Amino acid sequence: MSRGALELIGQSGLGYSFDPLIEGQEPHPYSVCAKELIPVTFTMTFPRIYMLPTLVNIGSARFRRFAVEILALFWGNARKLRDIIDVMHHTSVEIFEAKKCALKEEGHDQGYGKDIMNVVRPTTSHTTDTTSNGLSRILHLLALNPDAQTRLRDEISAARAKFGDDIPYDELVGLPFADAVCRETLRLYPPVGMVTRETRKDVVLPLSTPITGLDGRSMHEITVPSNTTVIVSIFGVNRDPALWGPDAGEWKPERWLNPLPRTLVEAHLPGIYSNS
Ligand code: HEM
Repeated sequence: MSRGALELIGQSGLGYSFDPLIEGQEPHPYSVCAKELIPVTFTMTFPRIYMLPTLVNIGSARFRRFAVEILALFWGNARKLRDIIDVMHHTSVEIFEAKKCALKEEGHDQGYGKDIMNVVRPTTSHTTDTTSNGLSRILHLLALNPDAQTRLRDEISAARAKFGDDIPYDELVGLPFADAVCRETLRLYPPVGMVTRETRKDVVLPLSTPITGLDGRSMHEITVPSNTTVIVSIFGVNRDPALWGPDAGEWKPERWLNPLPRTLVEAHLPGIYSNS
């Protein structure tokens, strides 16, 4: 799934094929690195959050690289992260340069190439991880729920019979049960379980339902000082029985084919697709 997701973003976003999934062929090194990046960075959460913002301002880039080389001599994870980042950086630069040359030859404005690279470079790992997690989870849930699998298969087979193998995009995204399976999977198993936000000024956060403090007092709002990191749990809100009903913890694609509970609609959750 990781290799597939990388190939999707490669071909659609960059016009570049990393790895066309030929049997027996080794995955592209970028694909291996993209998969390892997040687990390795998680082992370094403390220095990354509390030390890196200061360290990146010390000395020149060459000096900082030298410091990384020293660190990598005795810290295995720093070595791993250095190698991962080197592969990702060099691959990105290679694709970027190749694209620039191609655009020059075709006589197009180079600005387009720059834009797309700027967007994709920091997000390729995000897109491969989230997409491959989502797809893997869908396949797993379909294996566990054969009735849903049959229903989805029938829907897709009927669309193929009507439109041929290459179902047009609008028809594909309009398949109701396929859409419900995607939404329900992203709801119950969001590939990104939480996001963080930082307050830029002192704010008062109103609560949808009051909570009781340690001193027994009921609170309807919380004061959040400036520069506080707030962790927003997508996972929690997507499984809240007060919003979704008592079956919030169950995987039921059909819930998206019926009107959603009023509690949910009125909660006005921000989210582009399935609150994911
Ligand atoms: C199932 C797949 C995906 C999931 C669950 C997902 C989830 C998310 C989440 C939760 C954020 C918000 C992070 C935050 O605000 O702190 C985000 C941001 C973003 N995602 Fe995805 N994503 C997915 C696929 C993709 C794909 C395929 C692309 C691009 C081709 C993409 C590009 C972006 C970009 C550019 C942002 C930053 C948007 C901004 O800050 O304005 N994502 N994604």
